[in-house]
Amino acid sequence: MREGGDAAGDVCDTDGELYLMNHNNRTAEATDLRKIGINRDFWYPIASSRDLRAGKVIGTNFAGDPIALARTATGAIFALEDRCAHRQMPLHMGVISGEQLQCCYHGWCYEKTGRLARIPYLAEGGKIPPEARGVRSYPCREAYGLIFVFPGAPELADEIPLPELPEWSSPDYRAMYFSRTVDCHYTFMHENLMDMNHQFLHRRLMGGIQPVMLDYRYGGNWVEADYRFQGGKQHLGADFLVMGGGNGASGVERDYELMTIRTEYPHQHLKVWRAHSDVVAIRLFAAYVPIDADQRRNRSFGILMVRKPKVPGLLLAAWPVIRYFAESVFTEDRIAVEAEQRAWDAQRRDLNREISPVLLELRKVLAACGEPSNADAERAPTGALSAVRSLRDAGAAR
Ligand code: FES
Ligand SMILES: [Fe+2]
Repeated sequence: MREGGDAAGDVCDTDGELYLMNHNNRTAEATDLRKIGINRDFWYPIASSRDLRAGKVIGTNFAGDPIALARTATGAIFALEDRCAHRQMPLHMGVISGEQLQCCYHGWCYEKTGRLARIPYLAEGGKIPPEARGVRSYPCREAYGLIFVFPGAPELADEIPLPELPEWSSPDYRAMYFSRTVDCHYTFMHENLMDMNHQFLHRRLMGGIQPVMLDYRYGGNWVEADYRFQGGKQHLGADFLVMGGGNGASGVERDYELMTIRTEYPHQHLKVWRAHSDVVAIRLFAAYVPIDADQRRNRSFGILMVRKPKVPGLLLAAWPVIRYFAESVFTEDRIAVEAEQRAWDAQRRDLNREISPVLLELRKVLAACGEPSNADAERAPTGALSAVRSLRDAGAAR
């Protein structure tokens, strides 16, 4: 069943450009998906928890904004603009001092809020001059073994929930982590995972397995497709992946397996159920976080949650094979999406001729929920978008 079809507008392809009619059909505007910036008003993973040990600070980036991530000796985490207010020294080169972050150069100390708390060489009783402002802080949370920041308007951070991953905290599942820098716009990643028609790319690993789309649904900020698989044998790792999701029957009845892939802006979720079972056998959470200002490079985070089979230790024994399989699939996907990005760079525009209805809906969601990338930002913002930007800028100034 399809949902939201009337509200989602129409796409027409004219003269090499994708034209997206907006949701109310008021105007038609040319939309190049690779120029759509990711919407900052969401929570994004920006590091793995294990990357940030107690008493350490690391540097990272969100869409060209450098961010210093710090963890104090008590385990508290915080995220600051990675720029000392004094001489722009990257704060990630600094040190943790108690509950503060101290710049490595002249030792200015910042609180978790970004407020400048101390200048060590000020004379006894001397006040911090008003022009020595603090720096921006980002709302920051730790969940699922990842550190999330909220790069948008800080006022919205409490309203926007983190993704829900109940399998992560369930003792019935074991989690595998992925984190890779991929040289492509984040939208290529969404298209790649949603699109099971590209199994040809994985023919070495997937053998004769053919996906069949059963159904798809969509709304204003989400798209979801159901697939089943038919055909011959594939890599052993694929069978190991789902072995805990059965109802006790032996073997994997691939033909009756169900896979659902969902983009719930801005992240993606994949679930697989084995035949005759309502237990989720595999759950994948994927987030694609732009690194550079032009958003042509992303850091992809994945958590693969695999249902444990009844035999203790079996999953642990199969773990290296599962990882090999998952890494091999990802390597092939990466070759494809990075090649797509290079083609876009060379041709300077999106010449996409998508025919899959679910991919067309996905492209509409990504266009509608995103914002002009930094490269285009000076030209575009209007209405609600500029209001969000004003809020964000106000937050940055504080
Ligand atoms: S540059 Fe950071 S304290 Fe001087
Ligand atoms: Fe793939």
